[in-house]
Amino acid sequence: MKKVNVLLPDRRYSILIGGNIFIGIEGMLLKHDIPEKIAAVVDRNILKFHRKKLDILLKSKKYSVELFPFAATEKNKNLYTVEKIYSFLQKGNYGRDNAIIAVGGGITGDVAAFAASTYMRGIKYVHVPTTLLSAVDSSVGGKTGVNFKGIKNFIGTFYQPEFVLIDTSFFSTLPQNEILCGLGEAVKTAFLAGEKYSTNLSGTFHNILKDDLSDIDNLVYDSVRFKAGVVSEDEKEEGLRKILNFGHTFAHALETVSGFGIKHGQAVIFGIVCALNLSLRMKLINRKDFDDGIFLTDLIKDKVIIPDVEAAALYNLMQADKKNRNGKIKFILIKSRGNVFVDVEAGRPDVLASIDAAFRYFYSATVL
Ligand SMILES: NC(=O)c1ccc[n+]([C@@H]2O[C@H](COP(=O)([O-])OP(=O)(O)OC[C@H]3O[C@@H](n4cnc5c(N)ncnc54)[C@H](O)[C@@H]3O)[C@@H](O)[C@H]2O)c1
Repeated sequence: MKKVNVLLPDRRYSILIGGNIFIGIEGMLLKHDIPEKIAAVVDRNILKFHRKKLDILLKSKKYSVELFPFAATEKNKNLYTVEKIYSFLQKGNYGRDNAIIAVGGGITGDVAAFAASTYMRGIKYVHVPTTLLSAVDSSVGGKTGVNFKGIKNFIGTFYQPEFVLIDTSFFSTLPQNEILCGLGEAVKTAFLAGEKYSTNLSGTFHNILKDDLSDIDNLVYDSVRFKAGVVSEDEKEEGLRKILNFGHTFAHALETVSGFGIKHGQAVIFGIVCALNLSLRMKLINRKDFDDGIFLTDLIKDKVIIPDVEAAALYNLMQADKKNRNGKIKFILIKSRGNVFVDVEAGRPDVLASIDAAFRYFYSATVL
């Protein structure tokens, strides 16, 4: 089992990574002083595919665990679900001295953590991420949230878990397109973390695309280590942490305009290509670094299905992005791998042209 520590100004917590480590969940709950009474918010697909494993938790003799099953969709990532969790907790007489454990992907984690952060002003929270995306990205760093009136993650908090347990054997039942989503966030990290991460990632990429998950632990470990380092320096996204939004301004707009018809991780791949194009148009990145950067998206672009929407519709939605200031859209752009600019403003024509170039890239296998 590998371990990464997230070191925050006022506390630290661990992220534990390994195959089949969920077997030891009771011991880990004990070690981390998790209260005896726990509400388990569990993705229905985990109940379907991993019931036996989950029973270690649900039928624990040391813990009193009650199940809140959850259908993980963007449409259910809302305040109505949060209210249902509050009611479940209230009815079960959960107090501040109890806890929530989320077993599921990024949606389950974001919703359950939001509920944990606000119920009675906050109760203890543990996450067991079960998708590649949630393992490499969303389970690290304490961002919680729900969609509101059709806008992605519009309501949320920063709230850190007591610990995170990543059992990579959960990934065995993930469909290919969910693996692809995880790779989307990993490609993002490759642009931010620089050469070494990129080289390691390209090595494991081919295996993963062939359904060989044997070296997935290393990919997860490298990704978690990178993100934990960023979050440890800037927990509340006042500076460095903004880089983690690379590609996301475009991605969130695409998810929203398509009525969440595209998965987050795949939208991120599209967003990365838009951001790279914008970096090129604004002469921040040179052609060679652009070409060097795009090789990872080249490997997966045929598998990404991009909905056919108007670039202008995306632009309009981007104007409602949380990261904007004084009505101006702020972009994270790139000079080369590991060398990132934050809070860049760009003209509407350049943004629209970059989105159009990304559409051409995915639709027609054009070399950019
Ligand atoms: N908090 C953050 O910092 C952060 C960062 C990145 C993304 N996110 C959020 O994460 C969400 C995306 O997360 P996700 O991709 O994990 O989506 P998800 O939680 O919807 O999971 C994807 C699908 O896989 C299923 N699933 C989960 N585990 C499975 C398993 N082991 N086997 C089979 N099926 C399984 C789910 O039921 C769902 O259908 C988005 O809402 C995004 O906004 C949050």
